Amino acid sequence: MKTTISLSTPAQLESEALVAVVLDHAEKQTGIAPLSSKNKGNNSKPQLKVETEDGAIRSAAGDLLASGELTGKPFESNLLHKPAGLKTKRLLLIGGGAAAKFTTYELRRLAGAAVRTLKSRGIRSFAFIVPSEIPNDEAVRAIVEGALVGNFDPDYYRSDRKDQKIDALTIIPSGKADQAALERAAHGAQIIGESQNFTRDLVNEPSNRMTPTILGERAKKMCQEVGLKCEVYGADKIKELKMGAFWSVAQGSDEPPALIVMKYEPTGAPEKPVLGLVGKGITFDTGGISIKPADGMEKMKYDMAGGATMIGAMRAIALLKPKVKVIGIVCATENMPSGKAQKPGDVQIAMSGKSIEIINTDAEGRLVLADGLFYARQLGCTHLVDAATLTGAVVVALGYANAGVFANDDAMYERFHKANDEAGEKMWRLPLDDEYKENIKSTIADIVNSGGRWGGAINAAMFLNEFAEDTPWIHLDIAGTAWMEDQKPWIAKGPSGIALRSLVEFVKSFAS
Ligand code: BES
Ligand code: MN
Ligand code: ZN
Repeated sequence: MKTTISLSTPAQLESEALVAVVLDHAEKQTGIAPLSSKNKGNNSKPQLKVETEDGAIRSAAGDLLASGELTGKPFESNLLHKPAGLKTKRLLLIGGGAAAKFTTYELRRLAGAAVRTLKSRGIRSFAFIVPSEIPNDEAVRAIVEGALVGNFDPDYYRSDRKDQKIDALTIIPSGKADQAALERAAHGAQIIGESQNFTRDLVNEPSNRMTPTILGERAKKMCQEVGLKCEVYGADKIKELKMGAFWSVAQGSDEPPALIVMKYEPTGAPEKPVLGLVGKGITFDTGGISIKPADGMEKMKYDMAGGATMIGAMRAIALLKPKVKVIGIVCATENMPSGKAQKPGDVQIAMSGKSIEIINTDAEGRLVLADGLFYARQLGCTHLVDAATLTGAVVVALGYANAGVFANDDAMYERFHKANDEAGEKMWRLPLDDEYKENIKSTIADIVNSGGRWGGAINAAMFLNEFAEDTPWIHLDIAGTAWMEDQKPWIAKGPSGIALRSLVEFVKSFAS
């Protein structure tokens, strides 16, 4: 998708479609009105306004707005053909909800929804008017990122796929605008959105087409294209490094594992910090000997989403070139039952030397990450972030809307939270109190790999913390958010690419 910034007045721009946002400026009453109140029903009358200074656009939409047919609710869409007085062929009015609550978060989604509405009609290009509510630079970023998210469809293997994509997006800023600066903002956003879609492509592949070896090859190819160092190691190296936790999962599969190490070391970056991005790359999770029920098991092809996120994040970082060192590590393997598979009760020695009693072979993500996190520290990482589809329990706790965030360091959390906010992704912090340590105690070894059902997402994070130790560390549990269970107006059903934008923003925050 090509992106351009146009300083022409919206009415004068020739385009296939012009998109304008409609917001509700009514001051909503909150709380319960007193019984005697005469102004009951005040809440229901919206005051709609098309968000542009261009009077021609407002008058083209005037009749529709005056009709009282619109609510202005988020994603409400109306397409006017040959709008009077405008050079565009179509005017798409899209609702954005209450003006008082309208932020880049909503705008990003509206851009995605506009893309999905228009491309399904066979339209290949359109222009988007920046609502005056939002500063131009922030708006450009949100619109480009949101449009790219909306442009993705996971229908590669369908013979009847329509290959409908938007090829060109024009953004019309509001008021006075610095075109060159906005073009730079658009370019950065384009890198991030394309990297997010690169990750989604990897996650979408089924496990027979995305083995650890293939994931390694895809990482290598990407690294070559963007100028990153990349090593992909196999079983020999994993054993040589004494990654007993990683290997305990890999030993059960006929598919060889892959330890993917990507390095971004820009000239002029200080020696420290060195950021480590560690991803869970289980290309298929059967559960192993503690096998999962058949129902829904096909979804476990996306158990490598954390790893794919790190590969996509490294792509974005290499192209955006912040002056900070970053190492990306993905521990990729299948989790299979077999005659070679590990069994409940087995004791494994992790790379760090800690002994682990395997209670449940389905708690495999924390095993591969244990060695991934420790290895990152050995390579000199001073700060760690991991992303993993780690637990069903995080879905119980937070549902599909928020990813779980854990941190062993408050300053690190604050920095991440800020990045997360700017990236427009929803995440919620969960605790790592000492009390939960009880849950991962073992009689026979240092720790168990499964702390039971209650607080399951926290128990898993406590386990990881044993390997991050005193290195500032963030853990993202994306089990409930890496896959969209249903399509939404702004995004297709399937891989979401969650966490990539936050990670890239977080990395950028370290660059001077
Ligand atoms: N990959 C799963 C977690 C998962 C669940 C991801 C649902 C995406 C959607 C993970 O390896 C797993 O099986 N976790 C177990 C841990 C338990 C055995 C302690 C779980 O959550 O049930
Ligand atoms: Mn599992
Ligand atoms: Zn898993």
